[in-house]
Amino acid sequence: MKFVIQGGKKLEGEVTLAGAKNAATKMLVASILTPEPCVLENFPEIGDAQITQELCRSVGSVIHNGNGTMNIHTPEITNSKVVSLSRRNRIPILALGPLLARVGEAEVPILGGDRIGPRPVDIHLEALQSMGAKIEVMPDRYVASAPQGLRGATIELRYPSVGATENTLLAAVLARGRTTIRNAATEPEVIDLIKMLQKMGAIIELGANRAIYIEGVKALRGVTHRIMPDRNEAVSFACLAVATGGKILVKDARQEDLITFLNTLRRVGGEYEVAPEGIIFFKKNGGPLRPVDIETDTHPGFMTDWQQPLVVLLTQADGVSHIHETVYEDRFGYAKDLNFMGADITVEAKCLGGLTCRFRDKGFSHSAIIHGPKELHGAELVVRDLRSGIAHIIAALIATGQSTIDGVEEIDRGYERIDRRLAQLGADITRI
Ligand code: EPU
Repeated sequence: MKFVIQGGKKLEGEVTLAGAKNAATKMLVASILTPEPCVLENFPEIGDAQITQELCRSVGSVIHNGNGTMNIHTPEITNSKVVSLSRRNRIPILALGPLLARVGEAEVPILGGDRIGPRPVDIHLEALQSMGAKIEVMPDRYVASAPQGLRGATIELRYPSVGATENTLLAAVLARGRTTIRNAATEPEVIDLIKMLQKMGAIIELGANRAIYIEGVKALRGVTHRIMPDRNEAVSFACLAVATGGKILVKDARQEDLITFLNTLRRVGGEYEVAPEGIIFFKKNGGPLRPVDIETDTHPGFMTDWQQPLVVLLTQADGVSHIHETVYEDRFGYAKDLNFMGADITVEAKCLGGLTCRFRDKGFSHSAIIHGPKELHGAELVVRDLRSGIAHIIAALIATGQSTIDGVEEIDRGYERIDRRLAQLGADITRI
C-alpha cells in the first residue's frame, strides 16, 4: 500500500492520541500471566497489536476486541511453542517469562535484525537465565524451560534495555522470592506496565538509581487497565504542527511524558500550551526555526523514536544542527531519503556529543549533521521502518509537489489510521 501526498498544506485542528503501542503490546503479553479475564481500555488499532493478538491466541487466549476495549482471557496455556508465528515483531521474546511461569517451558522464534540495527536479546536471556531458566539456542528458536520454576535473583542490566526490563518484570512477578533489577529502564511505558501488574496483585517497588524490586507472588488476578496515550504519536503531531506552520490540539498528550521533548521544541522555535484536554502545538510567531544539538538517550532523555520527526523539522531551521543517536547504532537510513528530497544531512561515525556511547569508535553511522533551511520537493519513497516512515510523511507534507510513500503497512504497525487523522487536520493524503 502507498500514500500519495500533496505537500504545502498547513495542518490545523484537533487529533486524539491512541493508546501507546509500546505499552499495549506488552500488556497483552502480561495478561497471559493470569487465568482470569483482563480488560485493556484505550487499546490502539495498529498492526503490532494485531500481531501480538495472534501470539496470544496461539497460546490459548480468547480475545474480543472492539471500540478501543480489548478483552483477553487465557484460562489455560494450551500451547507454549509460538515459533511458527509472530516473527514480524519483537514481542514474542517477552512471552518467555509468562510462559515459563505458567507452564515451565516455552519456545519462541529467534528474531533477525531489522532496519535499525541488529537489536540483540542477549540481555533478556541473561536475566532469565539468572532466574533459573535453561535456554537453548537453536538455529531458528529459543527453547526455554524452568522445570523447578523461576526464582528471584539480583540482575544488573548492562544497558537499561526497555525490553529486557519488561521481560524480567514479567518473569519475576510469579517467581519464587525477590528479584532486584539494577540499571533498569524507567520509560513511561515500563511504568504503565508496572501499574497494570500491581493491579493484578504483583508486588513491585521502584527504588532510587534505576532499581526495581519485585517480590514474587503465587498467582495474579484479572485487571481492568487504561493504556497510557502514545507519546510518540504526540511528538509526531507536534513536529507536524510546527513544520507546516499550523496549530494542532493533541488531545490526551501528557506533559509529564514529554518534558524533554517540549524543551527541545521550544528551543527550535515551536511553541505549546498545556490545556486541560491535551497540548496545543504551533510555531512561534515571527523568525525562522533555530538549529539544536540533541543526543538521544534512555528515559528521561530525548527518546530515539523522536529524532526522526525532529530531523525533518531541523531541515527547515536556519543553521546547523547535530544529532548523536546513542540508543541504536543504525537509525539514520532515512537521511538519504530526505537528502533526495532536497535536505542536506551528513551522517557520521563520530560521536557528535558528550554522552558515553556504546558505539564510539566502532564505525557505526550514528551521528547526523543537518544544514538548514532547505526547501524539500516531492519524491517517491519506500518506508524503511516505522519511525522513518513518519519522517517521510512529515517531509512529504512540507515538500512542494507530490510524494509517493510505498510500504505504509510498516507505518500502520504503530500509528492508528494515520492517513484519516492527517486528512482531518487538512492534509492532502490518499491511500492506494
Ligand atoms: N539491546 C541489546 N541487548 C538486549 C536488548 C537490547 O544490546 O538484549 C540494545 C538494542 O540493540 C538497542 C538498545 O539496547 O541498541 C535499546 O534497546 P531496548 O531493549 O531498550 O529497546 P526495545 O525494547 O527493543 C523499545 C521500543 C522501541 C524503542 C526502544 C527504546 C517496543 C516494542 N519497542 O524497544 O520502539 O525505540 O524501546 O526506547 O517497545 C518503535 O516504537 O519504533 C521502537 C523501535
